Amino acid sequence: MASHDIDIRNLYKIFGPNGTAFIDQVKSGLSKADLNEKHGHVLGLKDINIHMPGGGITVVMGLSGSGKSTLIRHINRLIEPTAGEVLYDGVDVCRMSPLELREFRRHKTAMVFQKFALLPHRTVLENTIYGLDIQGIPRAKSEETGRRWIARVGLSGFESHYPNQLSGGMQQRVGLARALSNDADILLMDEAYSALDPLIRVDMQTVLLDLQQELKKTVVFITHDLDEALRLGDRIAILRDGEVVQQGTGQEIVLQPADDYISAFVKEVNRGRVIRLDTIMGPATGAGDSIALPGSTVLESAARIMTDARQSSITVTDDAGTPIGRADLQQIISAMVTPKSHDDNKLAAE
Ligand SMILES: Nc1ncnc2c1ncn2[C@@H]1O[C@H](COP(=O)(O)OP(=O)(O)OP(=O)(O)O)[C@@H](O)[C@H]1O
Ligand SMILES: [Mg+2]
Repeated sequence: MASHDIDIRNLYKIFGPNGTAFIDQVKSGLSKADLNEKHGHVLGLKDINIHMPGGGITVVMGLSGSGKSTLIRHINRLIEPTAGEVLYDGVDVCRMSPLELREFRRHKTAMVFQKFALLPHRTVLENTIYGLDIQGIPRAKSEETGRRWIARVGLSGFESHYPNQLSGGMQQRVGLARALSNDADILLMDEAYSALDPLIRVDMQTVLLDLQQELKKTVVFITHDLDEALRLGDRIAILRDGEVVQQGTGQEIVLQPADDYISAFVKEVNRGRVIRLDTIMGPATGAGDSIALPGSTVLESAARIMTDARQSSITVTDDAGTPIGRADLQQIISAMVTPKSHDDNKLAAE
C-alpha cells in the first residue's frame, strides 16, 4: 500500500529567461538581491527539502513573496523547477511525460483557490461536478457524487443556487466540494481561507479538520496566518525569501523558534492551545490524582478541566491510559505564558 507522501528534494526555482545558468552561483551563495540586480533573474525557491506525510496536513507559511505559491505550484507542475525533485509515492512529478502528468493532475490532485474560481453561470451542483464533466463522467453518476460532497460540506439545499447568491464562506464550501468530487488524494490549498471573515475562516478550518479525520488526504495548505497554521498543520514549514527557515510540528516551532523572523510570528500565539501536557509534565509519581488526562491534551484544555474540578495536579497518561507523568497548575500556567524575550529582559534591566 502506497504511503502517498510528497517529498520535495533540493528544489530550486529561478525565474527568468535562463535560470539554469545561475544555479551553480545560487548554490554557492549568490543572494536573491544580487541575482536580481546583477542578472535580472528572480530567486523563487532555494534548496527546498520538505517531507509531506501522506494523509497529513502540511502547512507552508511565510510572508508575501516568500515563495509559497511558487512551491505549491511545483507539486502539480504548474511551474517547472530549475533543479530538484518533487516525488509523490516515490515518482518524480517533474519527469512525468505529458500524458502521465495529465493523468496525475486529473486523478491525484485537486486545488482550492483563494478566489473560489467558481463559474458564475453554473449552479452549485454544476460547479461541484465541473471536473467530472470534463472527464466525461455521465451526469447521473457525477450528480450523485456532487450531491454527496455538497452535503458533506454543509450546503444541502443550495444545489441549484448560483455563486452570486452565496456568501464567501459558502462559495468556499463549493470550492472544497468541487475539489473533493474528483476523489484526488492530494489537496492543494493556496491561501484558500485568506479572503474569509475571521469567524467564517475558523468554521472552514473546522470543516477541513472534520473531513480530514475521515478522508486522510495529503493536504498542502498555504497561509500567512500562524494561528491557522497551528490549528491545521500536522507539520509546518516556514519560508523566507524562497528558503525554508524552519520546519516541524507547531509545538516545535512555538517552543523553539529558529530565529527572530519566526519569534516575531510566534510571539502573539496562544501557547495554551499549542503546547501539550506531555511536553511540560514531570515524572509520574504514583500519587493518587483524581484526574488523568492524555499527554496530547493542550494546556488550555487541561487548565480548564482542572479548574472546573478544583484540582491542582493531574496524572498524564499515554493513549492506552497508562500513567507517563504528572503536571500541576503552576507548571501549566508558566508554560502558557510567553517567556520574556532577551530584549524585554534588557529593557527591564535598564
Ligand atoms: N512568473 C514569475 N516571474 C518572475 N518572478 C516571479 C514569478 N512568480 C513569482 N515570482 C517571484 O517569486 C517570489 C515568490 O513569489 P510567490 O508568488 O511564490 O510568493 P508567495 O509567498 O505566494 O506570496 P503571496 O503571499 O503574496 O501570495 C517573489 O519574489 C515573486 O516576485
Ligand atoms: Mg501566493
